[in-house]
Amino acid sequence: MNQFLNTEFRTPLGLAHRTLDSFDFPDDQQRFKAQCELLLEEVGPHQGPKVFSFTFGIPDQKTLDQFRLKNFVIMGTATSIKEAQELDRANIDGIVLQGREAGGHRGTFLPNQERSSVLVPTMELLQSCLDAGIKTPLICSGGVSNGANIAAMIKAGASAVQVGSAFIPCIESGSPDNYKDVIAKASQTNQVEIGTAFTSHPPNQTDIVFTKCFTGRYARAINNKFIELVEKEFGDDIPPFPIQHILTTDIRKTAMAQGNTDLCHLWIGGSAKLSKKATSTKSIMEELIKDYERSK
Ligand SMILES: Cc1cc2nc3c(=O)[nH]c(=O)nc-3n(C[C@H](O)[C@H](O)[C@H](O)COP(=O)(O)O)c2cc1C
Repeated sequence: MNQFLNTEFRTPLGLAHRTLDSFDFPDDQQRFKAQCELLLEEVGPHQGPKVFSFTFGIPDQKTLDQFRLKNFVIMGTATSIKEAQELDRANIDGIVLQGREAGGHRGTFLPNQERSSVLVPTMELLQSCLDAGIKTPLICSGGVSNGANIAAMIKAGASAVQVGSAFIPCIESGSPDNYKDVIAKASQTNQVEIGTAFTSHPPNQTDIVFTKCFTGRYARAINNKFIELVEKEFGDDIPPFPIQHILTTDIRKTAMAQGNTDLCHLWIGGSAKLSKKATSTKSIMEELIKDYERSK
């Protein structure tokens, strides 16, 4: 993989070739532990609202207890009923249900569920979890782009909704300009709901795909040259997260800085439909709330 990344991407971007021993592969568990400790130390003593939200798995009960003791609201991410059931048993405060419309990484943590989970729309996942008797409050995430979506989810039994992609082009967002442009443009065309990498036909450049090629975990992104070249060479046989993430970071950062949207990750979710370039988060929230009040 690294040799391929050198010739196909580092050379055209003007980056020096890398050898495998030039990368630092930190222990992910150790890093997570250090992040938890920092959060408990720095945020723990505050009196205001505190949230500990995690994805890609469930921390052990000892860690969860430490957050409970400091009055954090605890939320985990599920992409399937089985994962929601495990989180339900962990006795946390909320479960974020990530449907297929959710942008960016899939939070899948049970084995062999990544491919099947991307086929389940948010609303369907919510319904299955309610039918399965899950008692923890459910937060719908993925494709929430108008008040009618919110009203339907709340009416069906969701406690809240979560919106991501709609905010990418906002003035407060730190995303690079070229990424903001791509998202805002995708929201104007009707291309944000097309196909996945699992369809039998090759996707077009503007299609949405689920790909592991940037980080080793499936993520929902706009198709581009990077995805096409890596998947043509390696198919689904990509080094696991976080190895692929570390191997491709310099390429994606440089491409983004150069305004080259062919060679960086363009995460996108269904709520991108709601996005507008240079709008404030406040105006998006106000529009959503007004639309929800009308749709209730
Ligand atoms: C650019 C981007 C980055 C994201 N980063 C994270 C993240 O770091 N952790 C996480 O749990 N979810 C992350 N997500 C997923 C969102 O939390 C959420 O599931 C998704 O955005 C909801 O779907 P929507 O994009 O249609 O609103 C990210 C999504 C996007 C689009």
